[in-house]
Amino acid sequence: MKILPSNITVSPKEDFFRIDTENTSYVIGIEDGLYLGHFYYGPSISDDSLSYRRKFSPWMTPTKNKRELAIFMDGFSFEYPGWGRGDTREGALKAVFKDGTERVDLIYQGYEITSGKAPVPGLPSTFDTEGEVETLRIDLKDPDTGLAVALYYSAFAECDVIARRVEVVNGGSSDVVLQRVLSASMDMPGRDRQGRAFELMTFHGTWAREFTREIRPIGFGRTGVTSINGKTGNRTQSFLGIVSPGITQEDGEVYGLQFLYSGNYSSMVEKVPSEDLRVSVGIHPEEFNWVLAPGETFYAPEVVLTYSASGLGKMSRNFHDLFRKHLIRGAYRDKKRPILINNWEATYFDFDTEKLLAIAKQAKECGVEMLVVDDGWFGKRNDDNTSLGDWTVNEEKLPGGLSGLSEKLKEMGMKLGVWFEPEMVSPDSDLYRAHPDWAISIPGRDITLSRNQLVLDVSRKDVRDYLISAISAILNSADISYVKWDMNRHMADLYSADLPAERQGELLHRYVLGLYDLQERLLTSFPHILLENCSSGGARFDPGMLYYSPQIWTSDDTDAYERIRIQEGAATLYPLSSLGAHVSICPNHVTGRTVPIRTRGHVALAGTFGYELDITQLSKEDHEEMKKQTALFHKYNDLVRNGDYYRIASFRDNGFFDCYGVVSKDKSEMLMTFIHVMNRPCNQDRFICLKGLDEKKRYRVTWAEDPEDQPEVVVEAYGSTLMNAGIIFPCLSGDFRSVLYYISEI
Ligand code: DGJ
Repeated sequence: MKILPSNITVSPKEDFFRIDTENTSYVIGIEDGLYLGHFYYGPSISDDSLSYRRKFSPWMTPTKNKRELAIFMDGFSFEYPGWGRGDTREGALKAVFKDGTERVDLIYQGYEITSGKAPVPGLPSTFDTEGEVETLRIDLKDPDTGLAVALYYSAFAECDVIARRVEVVNGGSSDVVLQRVLSASMDMPGRDRQGRAFELMTFHGTWAREFTREIRPIGFGRTGVTSINGKTGNRTQSFLGIVSPGITQEDGEVYGLQFLYSGNYSSMVEKVPSEDLRVSVGIHPEEFNWVLAPGETFYAPEVVLTYSASGLGKMSRNFHDLFRKHLIRGAYRDKKRPILINNWEATYFDFDTEKLLAIAKQAKECGVEMLVVDDGWFGKRNDDNTSLGDWTVNEEKLPGGLSGLSEKLKEMGMKLGVWFEPEMVSPDSDLYRAHPDWAISIPGRDITLSRNQLVLDVSRKDVRDYLISAISAILNSADISYVKWDMNRHMADLYSADLPAERQGELLHRYVLGLYDLQERLLTSFPHILLENCSSGGARFDPGMLYYSPQIWTSDDTDAYERIRIQEGAATLYPLSSLGAHVSICPNHVTGRTVPIRTRGHVALAGTFGYELDITQLSKEDHEEMKKQTALFHKYNDLVRNGDYYRIASFRDNGFFDCYGVVSKDKSEMLMTFIHVMNRPCNQDRFICLKGLDEKKRYRVTWAEDPEDQPEVVVEAYGSTLMNAGIIFPCLSGDFRSVLYYISEI
């Protein structure tokens, strides 16, 4: 056995490759010297060859049995299936060649193992931080056309994650039209190790209702989640979870796949008569046609996979660790973010310098560190009908511009943040009047408006150059520490004035590449800026955007009651450090519900933390509560940002209470939030078992909000006791009450 200095093992005959992480193994094998097959993904195994697990007897394999080749093709567990050679399941790669044929027959060519992990040109990708990652590259080729595919696998051992991606090279002599290039495909058994049929876990939603979890049986045929609106969207996440029935936080098997991409996607599962599953993730083939000239390469976005034999909690922690350490970049990756107050829900478009400074002054007294001026500071924008694209300050609202405002804020000891919606243009704007062809629309046909705005064609370099210069001028004009990058509509009227007819099918992917280029250029020029992505709330909350911004606005629904469920869903996939979360006013503007300010604070503390309300209208008591909240943020945010997330109980399941905690990596401390969501008659104190502690360590449980010098001790006990016998939560009266506990090693 050839053991390489990595997590990648090659069998002596060089026909099997095993990729190991701390708790998992992934095995790829070559069948009959021709086809690359998926042999295994699950708990760690030790053998380096799984030849006994070949599904077809040797006489049924392609070189021995020409008669039934199509049967072989339709049943073999492909690692990356081609098109048109008898495999009727979902294909991964489809191309149209010069003669109109579409067959892609991918034959194994060779492999290479390299240390490290190279970035993917123009796309977000996970990266190695401590030289621990090695990459396996496997080459496949269609011998008849020269179309070549390179599959890349990199193992992030400590997170139990494997990153996969694909490159397609046109090795022929004429143009090829790629009609689908999926990023990952995996043929796997349809039942878990206990023989139970796997189920499908996905997230769905809409505006202000993002991240709703759904688990459903996988029926025969194809099912999954997709987006064809040009961005990730809020209707579904591209995430796929293949889970044991009855999956819980600790029990059951889960395969989780996430797509590092911010445009159209197709994440599908296909169940075939044998009950096996084909899982495929990639750019949605609809609205995708890519002309690849001879010698050119197409780079498909990355997919990250994890497997957990011990429930959803481990899957979440694997993704959290991967994203925090190997995806999120920039100055704020490991830093506490400033506590901000955003004026959107406080003023909407109706503000001026005086109003903003009054908010900032009061906020500063409560411990807030930054004022974010949301939509409405530019052009003639007093409502949402005008001025997108005209990124010049409205001096009627803000005399002296943003620099005047930032200077006054600085005197108060406050930072300034600014909202942009760079990808959009209002028909009523100087930009649109000067460059109508910069908007995505079909010449000579009616335009399709949404929020009275059009999408700028950021696939065009001239459009991107304009945007960079306009945004840079603003960022250079004042001391600006933060940018909120919003995007408030989806695509229609697909047409780019910059592309020839045969390349119009490239527009949506080129748009996403353009978006990434814009944010990369912005971050390179202004590395000190904290970027928060947003799209009508969480409509572009995806791992691709996390490569550019360490935090993303989770939802326009800021009602803490709703946020309990939304943030639970989001935290299943993304680290708490990335979840934009604010305390807003009650009755809540979206739901009309009233939740005590203390609970609103506790819920927002499980995210980036900030405010979004007219603080000048709050009572003295509320201001006092805010002071406590900002102090809590400073006390516990290092733990919340860096710790391991444990979901203890879910209001979604029990309709009564919610509980989660964050445990430090060394298991020496924990912050736990208990929310008594809906009261019941005859309610009683209840036991809750803690999670994630060290059984052998002894801990002190205190109320997290007590003064540090005299914390009131709830109990002192071993981790094993706290996790098995539990602690008593007091019977709270009323709805939406919450308590924070701090647990520390003694
Ligand atoms: C949608 C965002 O989600 C909100 O937070 C706010 O910024 C508005 N857009 C402004 O138009």
